Amino acid sequence: MPPFATLLAAGGAVLAPMAGYTDAPFRRLARHYGAAWAVSEMVSARALALGDDAGLAISAPHPGERDVVLQIFAAEPAEAAAAARRLFAAFAPAALDLNMGCPVRKVVQRGCGVELMRDPRRAAAIVGAIGAAVPVPVTVKTRLGLDRVAVREVVAAVVEAGAAAVAVHGRTAAQKYAGEADWDAIAEVAASVDVPVIGSGDVGDAGAYRRARARGLGVMVARAALGRPWVFRELLGGRAPSPEEVVAVSWRHARDHVAWYGGERALPRLRGQLSAYAERLGVGRGPFVRVATLDDLADAWRTGVGIDPREPRVAALDPFDHTLPRCPKLVRRRERRLAA
Ligand SMILES: Cc1cc2nc3c(=O)[nH]c(=O)nc-3n(C[C@H](O)[C@H](O)[C@H](O)COP(=O)(O)O)c2cc1C
Repeated sequence: MPPFATLLAAGGAVLAPMAGYTDAPFRRLARHYGAAWAVSEMVSARALALGDDAGLAISAPHPGERDVVLQIFAAEPAEAAAAARRLFAAFAPAALDLNMGCPVRKVVQRGCGVELMRDPRRAAAIVGAIGAAVPVPVTVKTRLGLDRVAVREVVAAVVEAGAAAVAVHGRTAAQKYAGEADWDAIAEVAASVDVPVIGSGDVGDAGAYRRARARGLGVMVARAALGRPWVFRELLGGRAPSPEEVVAVSWRHARDHVAWYGGERALPRLRGQLSAYAERLGVGRGPFVRVATLDDLADAWRTGVGIDPREPRVAALDPFDHTLPRCPKLVRRRERRLAA
């Protein structure tokens, strides 16, 4: 992977990590539309260190996927290092990312996620341990603080420990996802370190993207990309999709999801994104939250907007000429466990 500064200079926003969403099929679409790189959803370092395979399943890149950054949450340097070694051995990712922003109770209770912001020395030790364990850069994703803006000390510590880039979600843990992201505070963090800083929060149009870039900041996009992977093209000044393209992209996403996870029984997990695609075209979510088969999805589009994804003129808008293969064996093991 080229250095983060080079990737950012080439333009394009980064697909932010989102648990339950930023898997291989979705990352492929985001990258196709211009995402500078993409981050997988967080997985537990402890579970990986103890030999559990679920984290490998969640993180698995698709064959040929480049510039993938795999995110872990951790509380202990040794566990983080062991997890990093497993992920590197399995997938040789471009970088490993440490989650220091998740405010969810079951993560925080284990001393992980945003809890690490309380202890810059521990955060730095974890970054150092990952860096010593694997021959790829380590990045960090954090928030502005716990209940007030207090992020510079911990960012200085992780950069000192070797973090090659830092993503900052412009809210405190107490804010969760409410209120506006504070990009002035993100810019202050960037001014205090000499590694690339990537801001996260509320970017969904070209104006917001350009304003952040004009301040020398990288940009991450999370919620605005759900059911809208072409947002990365729009941020770069590209056109909005036609209704036919929206249908074609959702169809590609669903078929890749089915292929990657090995069958239509995985489709219910995509319903959130399928309804997001529907909302982009102003169609009610109703039929999309009930999709159980690819035929159901085709019917939902035909009824909702009069467009059949299988029509040749729509199929011609499919961004890829091949379907993703089945995910690696270790992912299949997890699927079997879930099905049991
Ligand atoms: C459903 C969901 C899942 C998320 N999962 C993660 C995660 O696994 N790791 C992480 O660092 N941030 C996670 N985030 C936070 C996002 O990466 C991002 O920082 C936040 O949503 C703000 O950006 P946005 O306004 O573009 O959505 C998640 C956010 C959402 C909405």
